[in-house]
Amino acid sequence: MSKERADFSVEPAPMAGISDFAFRQVLADFGAEKTWTEMISVSAICHNNAKTLGMLKCHIQTRGGTGSGEGSGSRARRGEVLRPMRTVVQLFGHEPQLFARAIGSGLLDDFHEININMGCPARKVLKNGDGVNLMRNAELAGEIVRACGRASAERAKVRNKNREFLGRTILPQPISVKMRLGADKNIAVDFARNLEAAGASRLIVHGRLGSQGYSGSTDYDAIREVVRAVKIPVIANGDIKSLAQAEEVVSRTGAEGVMIGRALVGSPWKISSDEKPNIQDIVGCITKHIQYFVADRGEKNFNELKQHLIGYAVALGFSKQQKLAVAIAKSMGEVRALFGLS
Ligand SMILES: Cc1cc2nc3c(=O)[nH]c(=O)nc-3n(C[C@H](O)[C@H](O)[C@H](O)COP(=O)(O)O)c2cc1C
Repeated sequence: MSKERADFSVEPAPMAGISDFAFRQVLADFGAEKTWTEMISVSAICHNNAKTLGMLKCHIQTRGGTGSGEGSGSRARRGEVLRPMRTVVQLFGHEPQLFARAIGSGLLDDFHEININMGCPARKVLKNGDGVNLMRNAELAGEIVRACGRASAERAKVRNKNREFLGRTILPQPISVKMRLGADKNIAVDFARNLEAAGASRLIVHGRLGSQGYSGSTDYDAIREVVRAVKIPVIANGDIKSLAQAEEVVSRTGAEGVMIGRALVGSPWKISSDEKPNIQDIVGCITKHIQYFVADRGEKNFNELKQHLIGYAVALGFSKQQKLAVAIAKSMGEVRALFGLS
């Protein structure tokens, strides 16, 4: 099944260490209508942490007037335009005022939507009260959404004032939340209603508890309960591996669309098609992915591309020994040789 036939949205999941600028460009090449950053610390944004600021890129170079994103675009070289991809920036933290400061800083202006992480179960995130721990404190979760909504409206006002004579009105960026069913028990319906009342524009629901991590299976019926409980759009997430399965999930849950995560690693074409490309096209995809990565992060950081490369090795049907060779490769040159890239 190809996405042209789908009447629901399909978007890639935010994944720490995976959803970098290079991968987002690969997904855009495969027709993703929207991409997501990995989770980004609001505290680090407020402290102007250099590595974090590097994660906030969303402008891609396009020839002429058509890009995969929207926005006014700015001139780069003659005939080339820098355009923001339609990208959702995902923030994590637990202090409403830091979320507001991050939005007010202007550093997030080019993003299409601002999402708050209320689903991450990683220990280092939980220990600060961030991620899925926010599902233990509905009042604070609501306050964060309200603070983001106010900051986004305020920021739009400032931007419109600065562009007074330039036409198009800038609207406040919508604030969405990515959540689970609960931290250790299912409270999804009440929690979702609370976020809707606080002004969330839409909810992405990963149908597991935080305490489950990634074990057990996704509870699509619990996602359906959330869909029924709120009026804002709900996106279903968890264990979706194909567009055909996505269609089943949408009809079972009544969700507006789906989000796909792990299945895209090594198989980014799955964002728009259930048909596996031929070997030549997969090699072309890997070549492009490496080019994007090197342009953004340089050859020396090639280790950060390893999860994708191992995924591609699986997609290409590499033997166990070949996969191991990819996993322990010590340079991008070695990687290129293993994949037979020129
Ligand atoms: C390596 C990895 C990193 C992840 N990082 C994030 C993240 O930064 N923010 C987030 O909301 N979820 C994150 N997730 C969760 C995914 O977005 C998604 O909810 C989860 O993987 C279930 O979807 P899937 O079964 O399609 O992979 C991560 C998952 C994985 C496997």
